[in-house]
Order: sequence, then C-alpha cells, then structure tokens
Amino acid sequence: MDAGPVDPTTTSAWAALAAHRAGTTPDLRGWFAADPQRAQRLTFDAADLHVDLSKNLVTDETVRLLLQLAEETGVLARRDAMFAGEHINVTEDRAVLHTALRRPAGAQPPLVVDGQDVDADVQRELEKFLGFAEQVRSGAWTGVTGKRITTVVNIGIGGSDLGPVMAYEALQPYVQQGLRCRFVSNIDPTDVASTTADLDPETTLFIVASKTFGTLETLTNARLARTWLWERLAAAGALADDDEARRGAVAKHFVAVSTALEKVEAFGIDPANAFGFWDWVGGRYSVDSAIGTSLAVAIGAERFREFLAGFHAVDEHFRTAEPERNVPLLMGLLNVYYVDHCDAHTHAVLPYSQLLHRFPAYLQQLTMESNGKSVRYDGSPVTTGTGEVFWGEPGTNGQHAFYQLIHQGTRLVPADFLAFANPAHPLRDGDTDVHALFLANFFAQTKALAFGKTAEEVRAEGTAEEVVPARVFSGDRPTTSIVAPDLTPSVLGQLIALYEHVTFVQGAVWGIDSFDQWGVELGKKLAVEIAPALTGDTAALEAQDPSTAALIRYYLERRR
Ligand code: F6P
Repeated sequence: MDAGPVDPTTTSAWAALAAHRAGTTPDLRGWFAADPQRAQRLTFDAADLHVDLSKNLVTDETVRLLLQLAEETGVLARRDAMFAGEHINVTEDRAVLHTALRRPAGAQPPLVVDGQDVDADVQRELEKFLGFAEQVRSGAWTGVTGKRITTVVNIGIGGSDLGPVMAYEALQPYVQQGLRCRFVSNIDPTDVASTTADLDPETTLFIVASKTFGTLETLTNARLARTWLWERLAAAGALADDDEARRGAVAKHFVAVSTALEKVEAFGIDPANAFGFWDWVGGRYSVDSAIGTSLAVAIGAERFREFLAGFHAVDEHFRTAEPERNVPLLMGLLNVYYVDHCDAHTHAVLPYSQLLHRFPAYLQQLTMESNGKSVRYDGSPVTTGTGEVFWGEPGTNGQHAFYQLIHQGTRLVPADFLAFANPAHPLRDGDTDVHALFLANFFAQTKALAFGKTAEEVRAEGTAEEVVPARVFSGDRPTTSIVAPDLTPSVLGQLIALYEHVTFVQGAVWGIDSFDQWGVELGKKLAVEIAPALTGDTAALEAQDPSTAALIRYYLERRR
C-alpha cells in the first residue's frame, strides 16, 4: 500500500540544501581553478550520450545533498514501481509502462502486468505496424487507383503529433527517397487546407493518430481529410459516386492508431488497418508506440528498431546505474534544485542541430503536461514550486534572439546545450568546415555563460569606462552540455528517454502524478459548450460572462 508522497520540504536534505544554498556563492571560475578534476568528475555517460554537468552551480556537497533528497523522497523506489507496472498514475489508476514499448523481444523476466502479457502484446503490435510501414515503403501498399504512396499525412495533436513530427524532422537523413510525411494537428482549418493543398489524393495516405480517438481537433481534421480525399478523387475521375467506392477509398488511404479500436471502426476505418496501444502509455510518452507509424514509414522497420533500442539503453541506465552516475537522476535533481532553491522559473533547451528544431516543442509537452501540477498524487497541495517552463530554439538562431537575457538578464535560466560531433551535411565554406564553426559557437556559449567576463577584462580591451558595466558578463549561468557522436535513430531514442526520466525524477521528488493531464480538460469542455454561441444560439451567448460574451459579439459582428 502506497503511504502517499513524502513532502520533500520535511526531509533533512531539504533543510540542508536550503542552508547550503544560502551559504554558497556560485563561483564557477573559482571552483574550476581550485579543482582540475571538476569537469571529469561531473561528466557522465549514458549509452552514447556524453553529459557534462560541471558547468552547473553545484559543488560535491550540493550533489550529495540532492542524492540524499532523492533517497528521502523515495525516487528510486518509485522508479522501480514504474518499471514493474505498479499503478503510479494514481489519479487515472493506471500503470505507466512506456518503458515496456522498447523492451527487446525475449526480454527476461517477462513483463506481465494486471494479467496482461505486456511483452507479447507490444511485440505483436510492433510487428503489425512495422510490417505495414514496410508495405508502404516497398510500394506493396498502394492507393485505391493502384498508385504508390508518396506522402503520409499524420493527423493527431499533442503526443499524437509532437513526437512523430519532431522525430521525423530529426531523422531526415534516414527518410526514404520519394517518401515524405506531413503533419496536421491544429483545428484551425488553415492547417489541413494548406497541408493538403498541393497533394495528389491518389498517392496520399492519412494516419489518424489519437490515443482516445475522441479528440475534437483530430476527428474534425480526419473528417475534413476524408472529404478532401473523396472530392479530389472524384474530381480526378478516380472515384465512383457511391458509398462502397467511398469506403474502398478510405480503406486504402486511411489507417488509424489508437487505444480505442471500436471508435476507429465507427469512424469508418477497417480495424484491420488500425494499430493499437494501451492506456498505460501516456500520449506524451507514445512516439515509440504505434503512434510512431508515420516515422516508421519514413525511416523503415530496421531504423525504427534502432530508435527503440536507443530508448531501452537509457532505460537500462536509469534503472541500473548507481545514483552517483545516474544521468537522468542527477539532471532531474539539478532541475529541482534550480526551481526550488535558486528560484529558476524556466529552463532552456538549445539544440545545436537544425534537425532538432522541433525538440524544444516536443519537450514542452513532455515536461509541462507532466509536471505542471499544483496538487500531489494524494490530492494534497504541493509544498514546493513544480514544473518550470521549458523553451528553446536551435542554436545559433537563439543566440541572435534571446541569449542576451540568458547572459546578462536578471533571471536565472538553466540551459541544456545539445550537439553532435558529426553533421548530417558536412559542408565547407572554402577551407572552413562549417560544422566546426557551428560547434565553436556551442563551446563558446557554454564557456561565456559559465565564466563570464569581469570588469577588469573588459577594461583591458580598452573599453571606455562608461560602457564597462554594460559589457560585463557575470558568469555563473548554469548549463549542461549533452553531446553524442551522431544524431542517429538510436541517439534520438536515447535523448527522448533521458528527458522522460528527468521529468519523472522531478515529479517523484515533488510527489506529483506526472502521468495525468487534468489541466487540459476544462478548456476542452468549455469549447464544446461555447461553440453554439458562435453559431446563433443566443441562450448560449447570454450564458457567458460579460468579457467572453463581448468578445463573441465582436466576432459575430465581423464574421463574413
Ligand atoms: O492535450 C491533452 C491530450 O490529452 C494530450 O495528453 C494528448 O497527447 C493529446 O491530448 C491528444 O490526445 P489523443 O491522442 O487522445 O487524441
């Protein structure tokens, strides 16, 4: 029986951390100067990820106290409960088993949870959607007129969109020639209209991805896409004007991914063309389930299996590495320290890889939908600050936009810098290796943030005295550097798993349920209630508060 969350503020580690923080002035210059082993001692490997924590505002004592905090709040016991399939998603009474999606075939001991042979079910669905992906890639699966599929349009939102689109963009070098994916998520009709505008219906396949198959945006977009398919096929003379022909077109141009296969059938998609997963996979943790079917079509079964193996390698690291070297544990604890003891409100994620340009957006759902909570998993109020705002853009674009604030602003913004030794495109500008130039920026930024520039150094450059203060960099701006040899499918899986577990650790310390998302429900419900007011229902309009009613009237008076 779960005794409920431990209040982290009641632990001896918490009080010790507060005293330690109050008594410690960050001094990365001094700390590095005094300790030549600092970089080496605070750099760790998790699978292919090489993670340097040494430019964080921590001493050995900080790390020791943070590990004590993890111990006192039962983080590792909760980790073990997650891997074992206990119902740690308390408010939805569910197991949390995204880690099971990447267990290799034949993993021992077998994972049986709530009477379900999890391994067998995972492998069966994996074979099914990877087999389908290979059919599309080989041309064995065609559209209704016999033409090969060239464009896959994933229709989904939140976790049914952000993971697939991020991974598809990240793994562009692995995408099969002649195949491309597009992604429709927003219920703004512009999204589906502009995404399909230049497509050929005969060569387009739609994947309707929705865990619940009840999401307003996704079902609306799926219906719009289905109408588009029928109209465009008919206009091309490729569709007879009868229901059977329309059903036949849907059968060849629509597949679905969901945990609610009966709703898929009700929509008109043959269950044979549907791929399942389970309620113990949260939407934001689902890119490695059948929700990744669009990615699997793009990169193929073998690469998709490498992607899963990457996740698994970091799962194993998280599950088995000793706490002192456990990268997700240490990163999660550092984040807690910054939020609760250093008053950080945000966390930047800055990939020095154009291919990862959607990674910050992906992480926003992962981290903020997971840890943006004000009550703990037993319903009691949280006793600490919780989820920080995650944000970011690829370097070097961010350098010319918001880095000013990170370097010289009044806010503490811990930042993760991501980079890869090898580029996807090894271009040269004359004699210059452009990737080397790119990464010089990565190294320069983390160095400048850590060590800054003193007034003496500024003066020594001959700077006029009145502008010296403006040109001083305080330094002691914390960063974590995460580097790997190449951005492969495996390394991408490793990165995602790393952040999943970092998110887990933070939630576990705070005692919250990182796997529910009740906070998105109210807005969804109100949208359905308000919708009639926008289409002439005066009673619905009058039921609104004065501000909302006035805004709706503004809309109604101007809508053509
Ligand atoms: O926004 C809330 C949410 O439930 C997310 O957690 C989820 O990823 C998204 O909606 C989409 O849900 P579904 O996959 O069920 O359509």
